[in-house]
Amino acid sequence: MRVLSGIQPTGRFHWGNYFGAIRQYIDLQHGNEAYYFIANLHALTTVREPALLRQYTHEAAIDLLALGLDPTKATLYVQSDVPEVSELCWLLMTVTPMGLLERCVAYKDKKAKGLAADAGLFAYPVLMAADILGYDSDVVPVGADQVQHIEVCRDLAGSFNHLFGETFVLPKAKVLDDSAKVPGTDGEKMSKSYNNTIELFEPAKAMRKKIMSIKTDSRPMEQPKDPAGDHLFDLYSLFATPQQRDEMAALYRRGGFGYGEVKKALADLADAFLAEPRSRREHWASHPDEVRAILADGASRARKKAGEVLRRAQKNAGVR
Ligand code: ADP
Ligand code: TRP
Repeated sequence: MRVLSGIQPTGRFHWGNYFGAIRQYIDLQHGNEAYYFIANLHALTTVREPALLRQYTHEAAIDLLALGLDPTKATLYVQSDVPEVSELCWLLMTVTPMGLLERCVAYKDKKAKGLAADAGLFAYPVLMAADILGYDSDVVPVGADQVQHIEVCRDLAGSFNHLFGETFVLPKAKVLDDSAKVPGTDGEKMSKSYNNTIELFEPAKAMRKKIMSIKTDSRPMEQPKDPAGDHLFDLYSLFATPQQRDEMAALYRRGGFGYGEVKKALADLADAFLAEPRSRREHWASHPDEVRAILADGASRARKKAGEVLRRAQKNAGVR
């Protein structure tokens, strides 16, 4: 199976990004042909500072490598290093109904808020479709919020195939439903836009401080509590083994403990979980040339495949 996914370098990755999306990419690199890329062209619709975008792009690569993405198993590249995809995007644009894009949430939400949207944001799902179709991808692991975009991709592939003959493989989305919504420090969905994130690679001390600041209710210590729907329990569960999770659930039901103890246990689990990624990250951060070489190698493999698909599409559409 060919697996492909992308992630935008719009800031440092947080727990939501990892448990909602990145974790599955890394799992799927085993036993599949995997393509993973850093979607810097998509990020350009929000990050307008060139130096910052460059920095986020490089750091996204380092973070993915630190989290276990193995460049000898998966092809890791930066989106803009494969111009074939942008060319393919135009071909797809010509079969994209306006109405389809008007219904897409990123654009619709911005418009509903009365904010000015640019054509890049509007056409965002078409570039995403080109990202996917350009590699004949079978499976696209994504967070729950991206499923609509995969549907758009399938629609466009279907229309193109209908008009010009069999050209594109129709991909399937793969969603991790048990972690669709990782809560933030305030209990709402963890998101950069809500300022409630815990970054994966913030220094250990700062991370612990953030964990200790997670909002909780003011239940008295001795009172038992249902763990279901408790965001601190949900965060604990992300890092816990099933046994640790059950033990914590029993403690909640029994009562007689403080949230401070849960937070401390959570911080300990997060530290243990991150020990290896942190040390791998140190290596990659101090060897930027190795990272650049990995990305260059990934881009050259990706261009080979995307070039094949682009030529097939151009031929079928009569522009080659
Ligand atoms: P943010 O909301 O912080 O800007 P992004 O939109 O850049 O995050 O998220 C990148 C991917 O990470 C998304 O496709 C989404 O699937 C996943 N993701 C982000 N936040 C969460 C969350 N709180 N829970 C689960 N998955 C998430
Ligand atoms: N839109 C995705 C996100 O915000 C990133 C992305 C761009 C992507 N192109 C893709 C994901 C292709 C999967 C496949 O998370």
